[in-house]
Amino acid sequence: MRILLLGSGGREHALAWKIAQSAKCSKLFIAPGNAGIGAVGENVAIGVNDFDKLKDFVVEEKVDMVVVGPEDPLVNGVYDCFKDDSRTANIPVIGPSKAGAVLEGSKDFAKAFMKRHNVPTAAYETFDGTTIEEGMRFLETLKAPYVLKADGLAAGKGVLILPTLEEAKKELREMLGGMFGNASAKVVIEEFLSGIECSVFVLTDGTNYQILPEAKDYKRIGEHDTGLNTGGMGSVTPVPFATKEWMAKVEERIIRPTVDGLKAEGIDYKGFIFFGLINVDGEPMVIEYNCRMGDPETESVMLRLKSDIVDLFEGVAEGNLDQRQVEFDSRSAVCVMLVSGGYPEEFVKGYPITGLDKIEGSVVFHSGTAVKDGQVVTAGGRVIAVSSYGENKEEALKKSFAEAQKIEFTDKYFRRDIGQDL
Ligand code: AMP
Ligand code: GLY
Repeated sequence: MRILLLGSGGREHALAWKIAQSAKCSKLFIAPGNAGIGAVGENVAIGVNDFDKLKDFVVEEKVDMVVVGPEDPLVNGVYDCFKDDSRTANIPVIGPSKAGAVLEGSKDFAKAFMKRHNVPTAAYETFDGTTIEEGMRFLETLKAPYVLKADGLAAGKGVLILPTLEEAKKELREMLGGMFGNASAKVVIEEFLSGIECSVFVLTDGTNYQILPEAKDYKRIGEHDTGLNTGGMGSVTPVPFATKEWMAKVEERIIRPTVDGLKAEGIDYKGFIFFGLINVDGEPMVIEYNCRMGDPETESVMLRLKSDIVDLFEGVAEGNLDQRQVEFDSRSAVCVMLVSGGYPEEFVKGYPITGLDKIEGSVVFHSGTAVKDGQVVTAGGRVIAVSSYGENKEEALKKSFAEAQKIEFTDKYFRRDIGQDL
């Protein structure tokens, strides 16, 4: 099978690494890919939102399946665009339709969906420019801290958690005034939930689903969860509090009603669902849905997926995912992200990266890299993910930290406390 994967980050490198291991994959293209992904497939210089060029490429290269990494093309309707073109209508796209991607693309839609299907989540209300005063009054009924969420995609920056009512009111006014452009034309205000977070991933064919290994990610730049939010500084799987009993609650109260709810509402959804969960006194609740895999969770989760991922994708396309086997590696896997100094604020790109050839026993996934004059250089805030196995998370982390020391670039930084809170 000839497969085209869309995306260019660490998540896509990890997906490409896994896809390339499948005997069912004869050729893997990645659009646009990055300096590292080219080692497991062929990079193609087409952007993830350039649907016309992607379709032409798929037709010319006789691609049999398209797998979508990031949310952007999904929210923009890549699935529908392929379905609506007679040349590509029969080529399966692994990823939800535009209507399904709204689970991630609109927080208001996601909250209302959860309410309709009794999926446990924080109490909330949504406001727009015409209901600012009602929003202020709703804030007064809540306890600190206050959670404000831009309805639309805001590059991961659309959630504000404010310690005082005064700040929450000020930010609400600014958000509705266009702080995140159109993404904050509507704002969800919700109850603050206290607990540890966990990412649960499901692959669904629209009726059946398979649960993949869960993971915890580390979002803040500083150790002990301090400083600004980032795209993710590391991940760990399995998550100790995600016991059999807890996962049974997740499946019964959250996964099944979500998959059934999508089907009941006539939403075409064949792809990954990422459940951003929080454990509140032993009870799982949903913080958010995403319509794709997590980054940097994929960089550890793929290490633990023993099954052939292309076989699972075939199950998604054919609607018989229930007949496919999902097997996990019982070991732990972790990912430690090496980032550019200054990230997530200003940082310099273009520094040479050395030591990649010295890595032994860990898997390196490129996140933000490029090739300049034959040399791999930094090309993003998050640069390289170092992923490792271990009999337990301590052993896996020790391995990733040791290998991380071998990779050098100017102002390299990584968190040394990944997994310590578990
Ligand atoms: P989101 O973009 O919805 O994932 O939100 C970003 C982060 O904000 C989450 O990963 C949580 O850490 C935090 N967060 C979002 N909603 C809540 C909530 N209701 N209570 C506590 N923390 C939250
Ligand atoms: N790791 C969180 C995300 O991918 O959104």
